[in-house]
Amino acid sequence: MSKHSKGMKLGTIAIHGGPQPDPRFGAVNVPIYQSSTFAFENAEDGAAKFKGERSGYIYTRIGNPTINALEEVAAELEGGCCSVALSSGMGAMSTLCFAVLKQGDHVVATHSLYGPSRLFIEKHMSRYGVTSTFLDTSDVQAVKDAIRPETKMIYIETPANPTMLVSDIQALAQVAHEAGAILVVDNTFASPILQRPLSLGADIVLHSVTKFINGHSDVVGGLLIAKDKEWGKKLRMAMKAVGTNMDPHQAYLVVRGIKTLKIRVLAAQENAKRMARLLDEHPAVEWVKYPGLDSHPQKDLVDKQMDGPGSLIAFELKGGYEAGKKLLDNIQIPVLAVSLGGVESLIQHPASMTHASMNHEERLSAGITDGLIRFSVGIEDGDDLIEDMRRVLDMLV
Ligand SMILES: Cc1ncc(COP(=O)(O)O)c(C=O)c1O
Repeated sequence: MSKHSKGMKLGTIAIHGGPQPDPRFGAVNVPIYQSSTFAFENAEDGAAKFKGERSGYIYTRIGNPTINALEEVAAELEGGCCSVALSSGMGAMSTLCFAVLKQGDHVVATHSLYGPSRLFIEKHMSRYGVTSTFLDTSDVQAVKDAIRPETKMIYIETPANPTMLVSDIQALAQVAHEAGAILVVDNTFASPILQRPLSLGADIVLHSVTKFINGHSDVVGGLLIAKDKEWGKKLRMAMKAVGTNMDPHQAYLVVRGIKTLKIRVLAAQENAKRMARLLDEHPAVEWVKYPGLDSHPQKDLVDKQMDGPGSLIAFELKGGYEAGKKLLDNIQIPVLAVSLGGVESLIQHPASMTHASMNHEERLSAGITDGLIRFSVGIEDGDDLIEDMRRVLDMLV
């Protein structure tokens, strides 16, 4: 914990967390140590660093001061002991599986995971003898029933992508621990500003840094944050072995993006609350799923485990996918693109885009209907976003 942010709130940690100012020359922003390798003082110094008897940097795949600055601030924000920064969210996913799983192990995971995350466990880990069960993890009893003696990991996304289903982190941590497994939470949708899974009993948090953490749609990156040192060490060993480390320049941009994390997340959330109300009341809309609406099936749980409902909305128009296509082609401000959590609003169609890697039946059983539209509300002026959406919805009635 940096001397500046000890005991401080998240908005302050985001700005002053980690080794800031830089210990070498007092640079207020973390310098980009764009070097693949680091010189030893002498032969004895090199040997001691390799043995782990002396701290210091050796080689950027193993560790780097700019990347380390990001890892420290991320661990502080999530309330973890330590973290590793990875080349992408999927780099985080593969590193996690490499660190946690072995042949014969079983995973229980949310059915509506981000498509490639599900594909990774279901199609790739299965080649190494890992089995998996995907189900609605908002149903704690269903998760308990799916546990087997060989279950090693419960992996959840909450809120889930793109169904907005919310799973009970505290209850699932207990289920996992009673079974001798760990609970891993993909906290990409909420960010630590709205939800801190480690404080609710989870063992590891995963982020696609590409989203809210960086926040400017200009970096692809990932993070794994561990509650305890034991898991922290295993994750770093896996990262070193698989070579999924982040690059120093990437890390610099993310540290810069994190400084505004709190105001971005809260501003987007305010816009999303207004947008969800508009969609909920408009006659062109069939249904809306947003954790901030009273109609959300886990509203009480949202209020209990989250500090706010966030800025992701799922909805379907009365005319299904055909009407959805018209909306995507006529809306002016949100960018028609995958990804989420940037300053700009992003809108997309999961069945043909982010979740196209799942087959039709898998998507339907996970609640991803053909007409579902996912809207990541940005921080543009809320009046403009509302006017733009109202204009298109009125056109579709
Ligand atoms: C919830 C979630 N987790 C993980 C990922 C994978 O992250 P990346 O695209 O940075 O590899 C994504 C990407 O969209 C995501 O939405």
